[in-house]
Amino acid sequence: MEREPIGVVGAGWVGLVTAACFAELGHEVWARDIVREKVESLQRGEVPIHEPGLSELVAKNAGRLHFTTEMDDLLERAQLLFVCVDTPPTYSGDADLSRVEAVLRELGDSNEHALVMKSTVPVGTGRSIERRRNGIAYVSNPEFLKEGSAVADFMKPDRVVVGADAGSEAYADRVEALYEPLCAEIVRTDVASAEMIKLASNAFLATKISFINEIANVSEELGADVLEVARGMGLDDRIGPKFLQPGVGFGGSCFPKDVQALKQLAGNTGYHFQLLTAVVEVNELQKRRTISKLQKHLGALPGKEIALLGVAFKPNTDDVREATSLVLAGRLAGEGANVRAYDPVAGPKAADMLAGAQIADSALEAIDGADAVVLVTEWPEFGELDWTGEVKRRMRVPLVVDGRNFLDRDKLVEAGFTYEGIGR
Ligand code: UGA
Repeated sequence: MEREPIGVVGAGWVGLVTAACFAELGHEVWARDIVREKVESLQRGEVPIHEPGLSELVAKNAGRLHFTTEMDDLLERAQLLFVCVDTPPTYSGDADLSRVEAVLRELGDSNEHALVMKSTVPVGTGRSIERRRNGIAYVSNPEFLKEGSAVADFMKPDRVVVGADAGSEAYADRVEALYEPLCAEIVRTDVASAEMIKLASNAFLATKISFINEIANVSEELGADVLEVARGMGLDDRIGPKFLQPGVGFGGSCFPKDVQALKQLAGNTGYHFQLLTAVVEVNELQKRRTISKLQKHLGALPGKEIALLGVAFKPNTDDVREATSLVLAGRLAGEGANVRAYDPVAGPKAADMLAGAQIADSALEAIDGADAVVLVTEWPEFGELDWTGEVKRRMRVPLVVDGRNFLDRDKLVEAGFTYEGIGR
């Protein structure tokens, strides 16, 4: 069967994954970005972000993937235009929709195209566009991709959400058809509900994390082991085991922003979303708790050498937005500690954001002479370090704060480390 050509507006993280995956499914894809250098490097086959499997997919489907700076290239060749531009938070906490508005202007009053919204937008955005642009074809198709496993998530989705209001159903059917080869559960609904599914899903996952983080904090006081608690809870089908890993707080470009956005949206209607206020606050405090764990063992921190292992907000990405490492580096600098940070991919990118921390070229270099190691991101290579040998020899004081409960606690304790996990 002939697969229909697709336009992708915005070749950022979501746009690139979307473009590459639809090309993999057999579509001709025209992806447009306004940043010329980015487009030129993509035309040479260079992928500017670190996302497992993406470069391979782009290379494999080079014949079907076309990168351009010109919107007309898309408008001439595709009717379904996937909008994948960013919608960052503004100072007021509302989403900045200026890039979405720019796409609308470029579309003009075409009635041969449909906007398929993948960008995360406030609930009500679609309806407002439909009201302002009478007759526009508009489909909401939010993304649920996790950084670090986005390609796999696209190809094996838990569900695909397609929202359309009266008048746009035919286009929504075509969007649905695109996903047919993936054999996923399709949630067909109206635009506002589709928009809410996206925000509510992220807010719920963030709530789950803040919840288990609070259970962890209380477990520390009461002598329970949160890993045992999470295992026991997660086996309940109604709760489920995922997103119950306690840690040093959630970061990234989505949870912090989307929780805030939903809280703000509710607030704009006069509704006070109390639960989300707590979710955000718990997360902010969680990012800072490491400081008191260090002080408990080292006393005052001025002049202390602290190694931060991991800068990215999670493994397998170079994304440092809202990363806990940034908060920790700032707090440690404020306490007068000297910080050396290492990350397998995100180090150089984050150099200016780490409050004067030095960026080490290897984990061992960061650890050398340290009074404490704080594991911030659970990159696999940190598990493979020779903790009981080389690492311990290099440290001044064998103190580890394992911010992700990632290391083998018993082995470290046996080797003479002081070990602080989260909630155990
Ligand atoms: C999140 C959602 O999981 C995706 O479904 C969604 O599409 C995406 O946001 C988005 O809106 O674009 P992402 O931000 O890439 O994806 O990362 P997650 O894997 O969800 O992790 C977010 C943060 O939560 C990380 O800092 C991670 O370390 C932390 N986390 C996650 C925990 O602390 N505990 C957990 O159990 C799980």
